[in-house]
Amino acid sequence: MPPTASQNGREVVPILDFGGQTAQLIARRVRDVGVFSLLVRPDISARDLRAMNPKGIILSGGPKSVYEPGAPHCDPAIFDLGVPVLGICYGLQLAAHLWGGKVAAHSRREFGRAQLHVESPNELFQGIPDRTTVWMSHGDQITDAASFFSPLASTPTCELAAVKARTRPFYGVQFHPEVTHTPHGIDLLRNFVFEICKCEGSWKMSDFAERAAAQVRESVGDAHVICGLSGGVDSAVTAALLQKAIGRQLHCVFVDTGLLRKGERTLVETTFRDHFKIDLHVVDAEKDFLADLAGVTDPQQKRLKIGHRFIEVFKHKAKSIPGATPTCLAQGTLYPDVIESGHGHSGQSAGIKLHHNVGGLPAELGFTLVEPLRELFKDEVRKLGAVLGLPDQIVWRHPFPGPGLAVRVLGEVTKPKLDVLRQADEILLEEIVAANLYRSTSQVFAVLLPVQSVGVMGDGRTYESTIALRAVETEDFMTADWAKIPYDILGRISNRIINEVRGVNRVVYDISSKPPATIEWE
Ligand code: XMP
Repeated sequence: MPPTASQNGREVVPILDFGGQTAQLIARRVRDVGVFSLLVRPDISARDLRAMNPKGIILSGGPKSVYEPGAPHCDPAIFDLGVPVLGICYGLQLAAHLWGGKVAAHSRREFGRAQLHVESPNELFQGIPDRTTVWMSHGDQITDAASFFSPLASTPTCELAAVKARTRPFYGVQFHPEVTHTPHGIDLLRNFVFEICKCEGSWKMSDFAERAAAQVRESVGDAHVICGLSGGVDSAVTAALLQKAIGRQLHCVFVDTGLLRKGERTLVETTFRDHFKIDLHVVDAEKDFLADLAGVTDPQQKRLKIGHRFIEVFKHKAKSIPGATPTCLAQGTLYPDVIESGHGHSGQSAGIKLHHNVGGLPAELGFTLVEPLRELFKDEVRKLGAVLGLPDQIVWRHPFPGPGLAVRVLGEVTKPKLDVLRQADEILLEEIVAANLYRSTSQVFAVLLPVQSVGVMGDGRTYESTIALRAVETEDFMTADWAKIPYDILGRISNRIINEVRGVNRVVYDISSKPPATIEWE
């Protein structure tokens, strides 16, 4: 089923995804200017597109050449829907190709910045300087399309860097307006959606919250829903939204694995039970988790044991909610997960991202899935969390792995080691927050190494543990750079940990980037 029903009356600009690396980014940018956008399959029919009642359509870039066998094409009838279309790179070349123009490999492939010269004033470039920098990434370009395109802008090596079709509401650019290396790219996209598509820009998070809550009410009906809370932002926002939508039909389960950070359980209890009045069930399972982990040193084994135990605990709890039998399971699946799992483009049923902690649950228990965040990007989830009244402490928190501190106590996990790590981690986070660095870093944590080293304290020799500090900056957690925390702050953190945490006499700072290292140590 394609994403139909005119998106519930909201303005929408779908993007036909031809596989370009920045297709998702186009959706982000369009949403940023206040218009809802989503990726759809490149071969979506003009009829299905029309059913979405789009205000405009964007054709993304793509890795292939339009004339290559097997290159994705679109339904040519989409150009006759009377809806403005913007072709970006491959999208532009495809339109030229389908209309009988010539697209060929240029003698000079063009990657990187280029100087664009806007030749004639027009609505797409309104307010953009005549000469501006754009980001190019292409081997092919249009060589002959003069009969149906009017040129709008050129670069020294690309004559038709931006065009307008003579007889249809089609615009095309050879460069990438969605990347930050094209400084006026966002202005161009804004011009397309507002000046050309005549959008009003009504995509607001508060409207989304209302609409999403109404959709949940409709799809869930009288059923009861169970939602696992991890303390992370995605499950927290899912729960807050469901509480707004279905109130008493929502039952949240928080498993205290004994592998949590200090204060985690209290934060979840205060926020969800006391503030949101959610039916929260906290399961104390520390003993079981630690028993499973006794003697285990291999990181993958730790993950497996934790995953299995989590399912056991959750399954058991799901069957014993007093006064209710939940038949739906809520998950905080986000849009990038849906796209990555290959289901986003077709709008078909949820591509289920199995949370490391609840892998296998929906299938095993026969739950119907409820995924109210599946249209959102991560930062939109944070905005939604704020709209729903979640505290900053939850909305802005760094990610925390499902297996918790077990993958940060290297080697065998024991309660005394976890306690040492918890104290060190708390000090680290306190100092990062105090130095105003929490929001500018993506993830900060401490790791307890299975290394003892010699130290001196007072007049005595010590032989104690080492704590490694990890702080990274990243956009997507696929690659990451180590954060350049000022030395004096690192010094203060180190002093405090060594002075306040018994059993630690050395602190080191991890200066490896990902790749080749990973963010977590295990
Ligand atoms: P790595 O260590 O792979 O981590 O660079 C990337 C991001 O994923 C988080 N992470 C996990 N999250 N279960 C999770 O829910 C896990 O098993 C897990 N392992 C890593 C990590 O904290 C970082 O944000």
